[in-house]
Amino acid sequence: REPVRVALLGCGTVGTEVLRLLRERPAEFAARTGAPVEVTGVAVRRPHKHPDVPEHLITTDAHALVEGDVDLVVELVGGIEPARSLLLAALRSGKSVVTANKALLAEYGSELFAAADESGVDIYFEASVAGAIPLLRPLRESLAGDRINRVMGIVNGTTNYILSAMDASGSTYSEALEEAGELGYAEADPTADVDGFDAAAKAAILASLAFHTRVTATDVHREGIAGVSAGDIAAAQGLDRSVKLLSICERVVDDDGTEAVSARVHPAMIPKSHPLAGVNGAFNAVFVEAESAGQLMFYGQGAGGSPTASAVLGDLVAVARNLVESGKGPRESAHAQLPVQSMGST
Ligand code: NDP
Ligand code: HSE
Repeated sequence: REPVRVALLGCGTVGTEVLRLLRERPAEFAARTGAPVEVTGVAVRRPHKHPDVPEHLITTDAHALVEGDVDLVVELVGGIEPARSLLLAALRSGKSVVTANKALLAEYGSELFAAADESGVDIYFEASVAGAIPLLRPLRESLAGDRINRVMGIVNGTTNYILSAMDASGSTYSEALEEAGELGYAEADPTADVDGFDAAAKAAILASLAFHTRVTATDVHREGIAGVSAGDIAAAQGLDRSVKLLSICERVVDDDGTEAVSARVHPAMIPKSHPLAGVNGAFNAVFVEAESAGQLMFYGQGAGGSPTASAVLGDLVAVARNLVESGKGPRESAHAQLPVQSMGST
C-alpha cells in the first residue's frame, strides 16, 4: 500500500506528542486510515534541542519539506510567519493541511480557506480551539442544520490555570503563570494568553463557524486577566463567586431589527454554583445554545501536549482517510484490530 506522507512542522510541546504517537502506533494509524502513515520530515528551528527525533527526519528547511514529496502538512509551529507562507505553499501545491494555529486562522483564515478551495484540498483545525475537546466538528457538521444563538465558555487553559490556582491555593499570579508555562499550556509568548489575544482568536473561530460568517480576532472585544489581583479573587470568594475569563459569541438583534454577531472576551465573576465555576486548571468548557438542540455543554482538557495531540491526530486520520478514499491508496478495513472477547456463554 502506498503510504500517506506527512511533513511535521514544529516539534515542541504538541509536535513531540504527535510524532511520538505516530512512531509508536503505526499499525493503528494504518488500520484507521487505510494506508500506512509515514512522517517524511520534521522541521524545527534548533535541531540540537531534539535528540529524540531521528537524524534523517530533522531539518531546519521547512519550505523544502513542504515543497517536497508529501501529501499532508501538519503545522505546529505557531504564530503568523513563517506558518502562513508555509501553509499557503502547501495548499497551493495541492497538499492538505492540519493545524492547531488559532492566531493564524483568526487573522488569515479566509486566505487559507480560499487557497484550500482552489486546490480542492482539506484544511482541518480541531486542535485550534479548546485542546482535546471535539467542538469545531460538532459546530460545523452536527449542528449545521440548527440555528446557533450563543457560544460561551472558557477557552484558554493558561488563564484558567492561573485564576484557579490563585483561587484554590492562594498562588501568586506570577507563580501560577510560570507553572502554566512549565506544564506546556502557555503560548511561546504568554502575553497572548494573559492579555486575552488567544481567547479572542478562539472566539473569532467559534463565531465564524457558529454563525456562518467571517469574524477576525480584531472584531472581538478583548480584555485579559493581567489586571486581576489577589484582592479581586478574595472579593469574589467573599461573594461566593469565582473569577473566570469568559469568551462570549452571540447572535444579537440591533434596534432596527437587523441581526449581527457580537464576540467578546473578558474576566467575569460567576456564582460558585454555576457549572463554569467548577472548571479548573487547564480544563475548558463551552456552552452552545441552539434553537432546536437547546443547550449543549462541551468539557475537557483545553491545553497541553497530550490532549492537543489527540485533536491533531484525529484531524490527521480524517484527512488521510480522505486521501486514501480519493485514490491515494487501496483502502483496507478501518475497523479495530483488537480481538473481541466472548462474554456470558456458559
Ligand atoms: P512550541 O513553542 O512548544 O513549539 C513550536 C515548535 O515550532 C518548536 O519545535 C520550534 O522549534 C518550531 N519552530 C519555531 N519556529 C520555526 C521555524 N521558523 N521553522 C521551523 N520550526 C520552527 O509550541 P506548541 O507545541 O505549544 O504549540 C504549537 C501550536 O499549537 C501553536 O500554534 C499553539 O498555539 C498551538 N496549540 C498549543 C497548545 C498547547 O497546549 N501547547 C494547545 C492548542 C494549540 P525548536 O523546538 O527547535 O525551537
Ligand atoms: N495557550 C493555550 C491555552 C493553548 O492556554 O489555552 C491551548 O490552545
